[in-house]
Amino acid sequence: MSDKVTLEFNGNKYDFPIVEGTEKEQAIDIKTLRSATGLTTIDPGYKNTGSCESAITFLDGEKGILRYRGYSIEELAEKADFLEVAYLLIFGELPNTDQLAKFHADIKKESHVDEEMKKILDGFPKSAHPMGVLSSLTSALIAFNPSSVNVTSENDMYHAIVRILAKFPVLVAWTLRKKKGLPLDYGDDSLGYVENIHKMMFKRPSEDYKSNKIVIDALDKLLILHADHEQNCSTSTVRIVGSSHAGLFASLSAGISALWGPLHGGANQAVLEMLEAIEADGGDTKKYMAKAKDKNDPFRLMGFGHRVYKNFDPRAKIIKVAADEVLNDLGIDDPILDIAKGLEKEALEDPYFVDRKLYPNVDFYSGIIYRALGIPTEMFTVMFALGRLPGWIAQWREMRLNNEPIGRPRQVYVGENHRFFVEVNKR
Ligand code: ACO
Repeated sequence: MSDKVTLEFNGNKYDFPIVEGTEKEQAIDIKTLRSATGLTTIDPGYKNTGSCESAITFLDGEKGILRYRGYSIEELAEKADFLEVAYLLIFGELPNTDQLAKFHADIKKESHVDEEMKKILDGFPKSAHPMGVLSSLTSALIAFNPSSVNVTSENDMYHAIVRILAKFPVLVAWTLRKKKGLPLDYGDDSLGYVENIHKMMFKRPSEDYKSNKIVIDALDKLLILHADHEQNCSTSTVRIVGSSHAGLFASLSAGISALWGPLHGGANQAVLEMLEAIEADGGDTKKYMAKAKDKNDPFRLMGFGHRVYKNFDPRAKIIKVAADEVLNDLGIDDPILDIAKGLEKEALEDPYFVDRKLYPNVDFYSGIIYRALGIPTEMFTVMFALGRLPGWIAQWREMRLNNEPIGRPRQVYVGENHRFFVEVNKR
């Protein structure tokens, strides 16, 4: 196999090395392309562009494989808990008992959020979308934790990391509680990380909090499945903002905004709204399948298709089973689940979807579980952000430790050539 490619341009030949990853993926290293040839590349949506070398997450979209630090998502979802997975993603290895205990203890020490932050939250109308609120609050945290910006050592980084892992769930819980008109509260350090998040979100002022193992396990699994997904839109955003040394919290705030969009993390909300609309319209899945295939209709089957997976999204398989289990265990009979299964069955047999390799993605079933857990639809993407937090942190840390240069793509300019200014009254 050749270890280089040769480009021929204007009668000259240029060699570019082939870089090979540990899973034998090959890429052309074009770092010297512009200086050697004067050329740049154009690749809207970065469908063919590798932005970095990364040792965090491996995914093979053709084979439907997803691994964090070498461990399969199936095994992690079954055997690990979310905090272990967070540690694994961020620091590269599964923690032993002492490391995990210290990590959790360090997080607990940081679990308060400055009371002044409540005033910022107060300024938002109740109708504000939780993703906008969460992004703003994450950014506002910088003002109360200025030392999280100039991180020049691994120690500084560690402190910024445990701080955000501690405070972010509080912001998530407050965002939900504000929507529901519940008093803003703090957690309970005697609980596990995910159980504490659940309590912060749902504890009612007049009742004792009762933990439900089925609910906590399902939440834990959902968070693990969302924890990282290599260089997707929000992760690339986090890395590129971080590459300007803007700081971890600012990078995360930008990542949250990127995740908000319905083509990315916002799809889980869009899926549920779509399923509810189909149900309200009489449950005619065929009608919506036809709309999804009609090129004159902007409707897309939300939760279907993926930029990288051209096979079943392995997370969707796990979530589908989990959705069945959770609904069964909680004794919920949700017609929405039947509509989802019907749509999936039809799509998997339909040449339009088969030819384009469009399979259910992670979001197709996750909303059904969130709904069963009592999480409002508008909060679904916030739950995704909560799960993705360790992945964003891991990617930001890797980018900083690798001393990656500031992200700054090129363009091909297609606008007007030079022209002279005309005074307003002469135009
Ligand atoms: N419904 C109907 N047709 C679709 C769908 C869909 N959900 N997804 C893709 N297609 C069609 C496109 O119209 C296009 O058809 P064409 O070749 O005839 O023009 C073809 O499949 C390829 O689609 P692209 O949009 O070019 O694929 P791309 O990789 O750019 O987009 C994306 C991937 C954005 C996820 C897309 O499949 C989509 O919009 N899906 C619905 C939204 C969604 O579920 N997003 C969540 C993604 S997972 C995540 O972010 C966690």
